[in-house]
Amino acid sequence: MTSPDSLVIPSPHLGPTARPQVRSTMRSTTPYSEVGRRIDALVRTANVPVVRASSVLFESLAEVDQALQDTARGVRYATTYGTGGVPTTMALMDAVAELEGWGAAPAADRAGPGTRAALVPSGLAAIALAVLAFAASGDHVLMPDSVYGPGRALAQGQLARAGIEITFYDPRIDPAGLAQLMRPQTRIVYLESPGSYTFEIQDVAGLAATAREHGALSMIDNAWGSPLHFHPFEHGVDVSIVPLTKYWGGHADVLMGAVVVTDELWPTVWRTVRGLGLCVSSDDAWLILRGLRTLPQRVAQHEVSAIAVAQWLQRQEGVVRVLHPALPDHPDHARWRRDFSGSCGLFSVELERGLEGQVAALVEGRRHFGIGYSWGGFESLIMPARLHGLRTIEPWAGGPLVRLHIGLESVADLLEDLEQGFRAMGSAPR
Ligand SMILES: Cc1ncc(COP(=O)(O)O)c(C=O)c1O
Repeated sequence: MTSPDSLVIPSPHLGPTARPQVRSTMRSTTPYSEVGRRIDALVRTANVPVVRASSVLFESLAEVDQALQDTARGVRYATTYGTGGVPTTMALMDAVAELEGWGAAPAADRAGPGTRAALVPSGLAAIALAVLAFAASGDHVLMPDSVYGPGRALAQGQLARAGIEITFYDPRIDPAGLAQLMRPQTRIVYLESPGSYTFEIQDVAGLAATAREHGALSMIDNAWGSPLHFHPFEHGVDVSIVPLTKYWGGHADVLMGAVVVTDELWPTVWRTVRGLGLCVSSDDAWLILRGLRTLPQRVAQHEVSAIAVAQWLQRQEGVVRVLHPALPDHPDHARWRRDFSGSCGLFSVELERGLEGQVAALVEGRRHFGIGYSWGGFESLIMPARLHGLRTIEPWAGGPLVRLHIGLESVADLLEDLEQGFRAMGSAPR
């Protein structure tokens, strides 16, 4: 046994006769590594626990070999290391695959293994993963002009550097128009419906069918539709990109994204996630699991409140139009009714031209609306659009555009706040 004295650590800064200043009287460090690691009491809880792990342990080398093979193939629940998954992240992978995968398998089989979900650290990372999994140097990708801004930057930056060519297209293009843009190298038709800030509703089924006819995959950013109101696989889409940061998490405190595909495409997605070393923390996965329990109730309230605010805005002086697909005068309202079963809290309002210099008075100093990016949390947000450079097919030619996210606050409070904003905008110097 090690005697306490043998643990005296000599200091190089002291002379031979000086007494060492750093001592340890510990007998053995081993218990510190070994205690408290086995819990025999099995406790069933309503929620999966947060399991944090880098190392995953095995009983034998044969077990290691099997796990390596299964993990490489993307077998459900197989893992060799924390990046491959732990119980908390696996539970969320299952939950996202099942909720988002609606329509990928016959209804009776919905809970079955029709779809799989890969988790990544943000919605933007999910866009990157989805494209990089299926496109490589020399391939061509079609993207709507209304794509989420950082998605466009990704396409023009990292994807272009990787040799992937992007063509932007009018989000309201019809299938015949899309067919004309398809090239032999077109691997992906990317969709986002409604479009960011300008809320165009795409003909998802028609465009996905055109992609398939030309040997390309279709993928959609399904942030706005959420698993409640738009089911990409029912419309023939191959890949659903899910920014879990939005309503899934729902509390403005966690970032995450998912790529959801059918079993057939899963090995390609899984290989790419593994190859890039992408994974999420169990703490964050737990927060998303917790958030999704109340997703339907929250989105229902966001929807009702947002429509009330949108209708109020339509009556305000200085407002040209409200871009909300659920409003009957939205140009794509009929398509929205056909494809979506509801809406959420996010829409834009276009103000009269000439009010550019007064927008700050509307937006700043609001009591209940934060000036900030993202959306889908419990709180209301307001943000003027900066569309310069973000529309290359048809540059934005309208008046100032302001995006609102209507949170879970009382509508009366939000309207009172906005009323003050409109008053401030009206009296701001032109
Ligand atoms: C439509 C859309 N897609 C993707 C994202 C990216 O999600 P994340 O914030 O998790 O990166 C956002 C974020 O605002 C978004 O609005």
